[in-house]
Amino acid sequence: MNNDTQLGLLPALGWNSWNTFTWDINEQLIREIADLFVSEGYLNAGYEYIVIDDCWSLKARDEQGNLVADPEKFPSGMKALADYIHSKGLKFGMYSCVGTHTCAGYPGSFEHEFQDAKKFAEWGVDYLKYDYCFKPRHISGELLYKRMSLALKNCGREILFSACNWGEDNVYHWIRESGAHMYRSTGDIRDNWISIKELAISQLDKECYTGSFCHNDMDMLIVGMYGGSNNDYIGKIGGCSDLEYKTHFSIWSMMGSPLMIGSDIRKATPATKRILLNKDILAINQDLEARGAYRIKPEPQWFHDDEVFMLVKVLTNGDVTIGFFNLSDNQREISLQFWDIGLPYASNFSLSLYDCWEHKELGIFKERFSPTVPAHDCVVIRARLV
Ligand code: GLA
Repeated sequence: MNNDTQLGLLPALGWNSWNTFTWDINEQLIREIADLFVSEGYLNAGYEYIVIDDCWSLKARDEQGNLVADPEKFPSGMKALADYIHSKGLKFGMYSCVGTHTCAGYPGSFEHEFQDAKKFAEWGVDYLKYDYCFKPRHISGELLYKRMSLALKNCGREILFSACNWGEDNVYHWIRESGAHMYRSTGDIRDNWISIKELAISQLDKECYTGSFCHNDMDMLIVGMYGGSNNDYIGKIGGCSDLEYKTHFSIWSMMGSPLMIGSDIRKATPATKRILLNKDILAINQDLEARGAYRIKPEPQWFHDDEVFMLVKVLTNGDVTIGFFNLSDNQREISLQFWDIGLPYASNFSLSLYDCWEHKELGIFKERFSPTVPAHDCVVIRARLV
């Protein structure tokens, strides 16, 4: 039905209610976030989806088997909320689950897939996150994602399909064919440095599985949360420094993950906005060819481990972005030999380097570039062959 579309060509950019608010959501909050998306420059920077996660419905379906929005949280109903979001030039996302229940115990879409897809279309939904809790044992997750994908593609409205099975059941091997536009490849993020580090390292060998129309989703951003979740699991250890949020944002961007803001942007600090609205970094994430990044392990080999690495992403226009990541607890010099990105001395090319966080040209370099990177920090470079 929807065959005139570029839906999912690039990683989705937006905001999701879960990380900060979990169950405590309502239409006023969602409207305020939509307003800020426009007034504070998020829409201009490319963020377009406003997504309501779990806990939006009543605990039971109505007599016709339809999902019902909780009238206390959403008194005007989902259609009115979608209309409001659309009137701002934004897109509206919602949440359901392959199982009988969602992870928080609300009704899931199992055996209601086509009915729910139709309802989401009627409400004006543009994006569906589809979780993996309470999946009946006798049926495979693969089949259930195929089912909802088919339901969405035939519901009469273009709806981006965001699968969320946490990297389980060999999802890499079947998700692209199922029709999903993005898929969670990690467990849930938490608002602390250990979580950033674990998720990032877990994806270092998964970069071959991401690309246009089916992006590897490393989970929502925690940038700017500073321990502000109302959920102990997400927030208990208590937030990160701006430096750590910068590194988190850089890795997610370079690895081509969708970037769904998870903080309360009504309280965004200048530092948070500098990170989320960094156009040089967003341009890497939104590069048209949407290639995954490859890893280079730094020399000397004797000290290296997975905590110190370079990510290299080749861009559509022939530029190369290189991220120097130091997730260890000590300052490190990280050295890139240009040979390792395919640029031998005999090519006669040098690299003109631009720093995507300092927003400045660094000059022309031959053969190698070796920044010193403080603990938990990164340097992200855009390199042009000259
Ligand atoms: C799962 C998902 C989270 C969130 C919660 C909601 O844990 O992975 O992103 O959607 O469910 O209950």
